[in-house]
Order: sequence, then C-alpha cells, then structure tokens
Amino acid sequence: MNNALDGKVALVTGGGRGIGAAVALRLAEEGADVALTFQQNQRRADGVVDQIKAVGRMAIAMQVDSSDPAAVVGAVDRVVGELGRLDILVNNAGAFLLGPLEQLSLEEFEQTVAVNVRAPFVAAQAAVRHMRAGGRVINIGSNAAERAVFPGFALYAMSKTTLIGLTKALGRELGGRAITVNLVNPGATDTELNPADGPNADTINGFTALGHFAEPSDVAATVAFLAGPGGRYITGATVNVDGGFTI
Ligand SMILES: NC(=O)c1ccc[n+]([C@@H]2O[C@H](COP(=O)([O-])OP(=O)(O)OC[C@H]3O[C@@H](n4cnc5c(N)ncnc54)[C@H](OP(=O)(O)O)[C@@H]3O)[C@@H](O)[C@H]2O)c1
Repeated sequence: MNNALDGKVALVTGGGRGIGAAVALRLAEEGADVALTFQQNQRRADGVVDQIKAVGRMAIAMQVDSSDPAAVVGAVDRVVGELGRLDILVNNAGAFLLGPLEQLSLEEFEQTVAVNVRAPFVAAQAAVRHMRAGGRVINIGSNAAERAVFPGFALYAMSKTTLIGLTKALGRELGGRAITVNLVNPGATDTELNPADGPNADTINGFTALGHFAEPSDVAATVAFLAGPGGRYITGATVNVDGGFTI
C-alpha cells in the first residue's frame, strides 16, 4: 500500500461490514484516519475500528441511521470535532428493498429514498462546509441504475439512478473549490447483502464478462484511487466496478 492519504480524514457511511468496511480499511491502509457509521451491528463496526487501529490510524464508529437526516449531519460534525477535519466522504450505506411493483409500500419507498438519496445529499451538504481544496465526495451507487436484469428492482434502481444526477451536479458546483464528486457503481459484490453463492449468482455470473462476483476490496480499490491524488482530475464521473456486467 502507498501512503497517498496521509493526513486525510474520511467518513464512510455503512462502514461496519461489506463494501463500506473494505473501503474504510483501504483508506486507512493508505494513511487516512477513518470514521464510519453503522445501523445496528456495533460488534462488526468495532471490529473494523480495531483493524484500522492495527494499521496505525485513528478510527471511530458511530451508530447513525442514514434515514435520519439530523443524525447524518451530526455524524459529519462529530468527525470534524473528534478527528479534526474532513477530506473524504464516502456515501455507502444503502437500502436494498426489492419486490413486485404492486407490493411495494409507501413506507418502503420513503425508506429507500431516505437512505439512498436524501442521506448522500445531506451528508455532502454538511461535509463540504468543512472540506478544503482536494476534498472528495464519493457516492456508492449500483449498476442496477444502468441495467435492469431482474424484476423487483424499481425502488432500488430508481434511487441509485438519482446519484448520477447528484454526482454530476455537485461535480460542476464544487469544481471551483477543487472538490471532486464521483459515483462508483459496483456490480454484484460478495457481501451479506448479495452473497456470491446466493440464488441468482449463476445468472449474474453469466451476464458478467469476468464471470464472477467482485470482492469488496475490488470496489474499495477504486474508491481509494478516486480519493487519492490520481483522482484529482476526475469529477462528475460514474465508474462501473462490475466485471463488465453492463457492457
Ligand atoms: N453487494 C452488492 O452486490 C452491491 C452491488 C451494487 C451496489 N451495492 C451498494 O453498495 C453499498 C454497500 O452494500 P453492501 O453489499 O456492502 O451491504 P451490506 O453488506 O449489507 O453492509 C451494509 C452496511 O451498511 C450499514 N447500513 C445499512 N443501512 C444503514 C442505514 N440506514 N444507516 C446506516 N448504516 C446502514 C450496515 O450497518 P449494520 O452492520 O449495523 O447493519 C452495514 O455496515 C450499498 O449502497 C449497496 O446498495 C452493493
């Protein structure tokens, strides 16, 4: 690992396990101090904090439900209070509520929009108040925004598609401050949300040019690149980390 992120502070939402945990650890391995949020699983989040501390970086875990906008803003402010600054925001926490159109409830609609759309907006709004030149906002979307392979994805695909517009608009707006905003769209990634031995795995692998699921570390490597100096001239972009699922 390099130390491209020495002196930086990152906030990763949903960093207690899966992709967010891999991102948090990778950013720390490259030198950043890292704050992460989780929804309920304190033990898993504490495990990630321990891993980050083991590589010599500072870390805090905060129980913050992304569906609560005041709590999201509070988390951003706490990061700055405890770790001294904020350079990198990774909007990773996501709601994955699937089902046939006629069975999806308004509550599921509200929850999906709250977590997948409002929280990234609110977190970015709060974070850029603290960011200086070189700041990074990295949204985690999904390749479901580009390709609808399975039925039942209306809410999820709709919500993740909004991140394309948010990313472009904020990339334009914040460019003058040398803050970049990008969207990473994972494909099927082996986590508890979408295990590589799950019921749709064979179909997914068949559509995937590389023929297999990503590891969370594959997504984390792309996030780390965008967060580091190599990402300084990339903004408003969508990067698919999906093994060619959408080509
Ligand atoms: N895995 C895939 O195949 C895939 C593909 C494309 C996109 N994505 C996207 O990648 C992101 C991460 O997915 P993942 O597979 O790593 O998920 P995951 O394994 O289910 O992990 C989710 C993490 O986010 C936290 N979280 C969930 N809801 C939250 C909320 N409302 N507020 C705060 N934290 C919350 C969880 O906290 P607890 O541990 O406390 O529950 C956990 O730490 C999501 O945005 C997802 O849509 C995933």
